[in-house]
Amino acid sequence: MSLANKKVVIIGGSSGIGLATAKATLTAQAKVLIAGRSLEKLQQAQQEIGDEVEIRSLDLLQENAIKQFCTDVGVIDHLVIPGSSVKTGLLRELDTADAQKSMASKFWGSYLLTKYAQIADCGSIVLFSGILSRRPSPGYTVLAAINAAVEAFGRALALELAPVRVNVVSPGLVDTPVYAGMPQQQREAFLQSTADKLPVKRIGQPEDIAATVLYLLENGYTTGTVIDVDGGSLLV
Ligand SMILES: NC(=O)c1ccc[n+]([C@@H]2O[C@H](COP(=O)([O-])OP(=O)(O)OC[C@H]3O[C@@H](n4cnc5c(N)ncnc54)[C@H](OP(=O)(O)O)[C@@H]3O)[C@@H](O)[C@H]2O)c1
Repeated sequence: MSLANKKVVIIGGSSGIGLATAKATLTAQAKVLIAGRSLEKLQQAQQEIGDEVEIRSLDLLQENAIKQFCTDVGVIDHLVIPGSSVKTGLLRELDTADAQKSMASKFWGSYLLTKYAQIADCGSIVLFSGILSRRPSPGYTVLAAINAAVEAFGRALALELAPVRVNVVSPGLVDTPVYAGMPQQQREAFLQSTADKLPVKRIGQPEDIAATVLYLLENGYTTGTVIDVDGGSLLV
């Protein structure tokens, strides 16, 4: 199924995996709209990828804004939701409010968008989880639970919203601005030590994930799946 002239909305399209997906779908000649909280980040992304991408600010924590956004945007072909902001930490140290806000952003944000979005019958939705759902790590318990919830939600939605297809991408470690807050040396050491342990001997790039999203948007016989794009993380 060609993406030419299809309307693709990417929430969280101003950075990392979402930005790479915006570039890939534009190259496939889709009409692309990216959204996120910061208008400045969206404008920077637009400068980088071209004026043909439409931008709109939206906060996944605001149900009324999501409802209005979906009404304004109208019927679309594909909805991709890599947008989220999550705080992690050990169970006994992480503020409960931060844990709940993380769930609100990544799980409930996806829930609300899929609730209000108007998707054409031949269209699809791509949600994002992450390997922590099946390969947990101390300090990331809330993210493990959020990812598992997104995966279960995606499978259930594939039945409820059919014939609209719904799939979930589960990335391993991907080099995106999500790690920009770490001191550079620590960040590089973290990325390198992960790369060394993986069968593919490198960490993921946003383009690796964007290629998978493109596959899911274009393949009309794929629904209800969770696709791991993790360099073999689940094996080691
Ligand atoms: N990178 C990895 O290693 C990795 C691994 C496993 C899973 N994942 C998952 O893959 C997805 C994309 O990750 P990424 O690394 O590409 O992230 P990223 O570079 O931090 O980008 C996140 C995007 O989401 C937007 N966003 C954040 N909070 C939002 C909110 N409340 N409402 C609307 N937009 C919001 C951001 O823009 P604003 O800040 O302007 O809102 C930005 O465009 C996430 O679901 C992440 O959990 C990533």
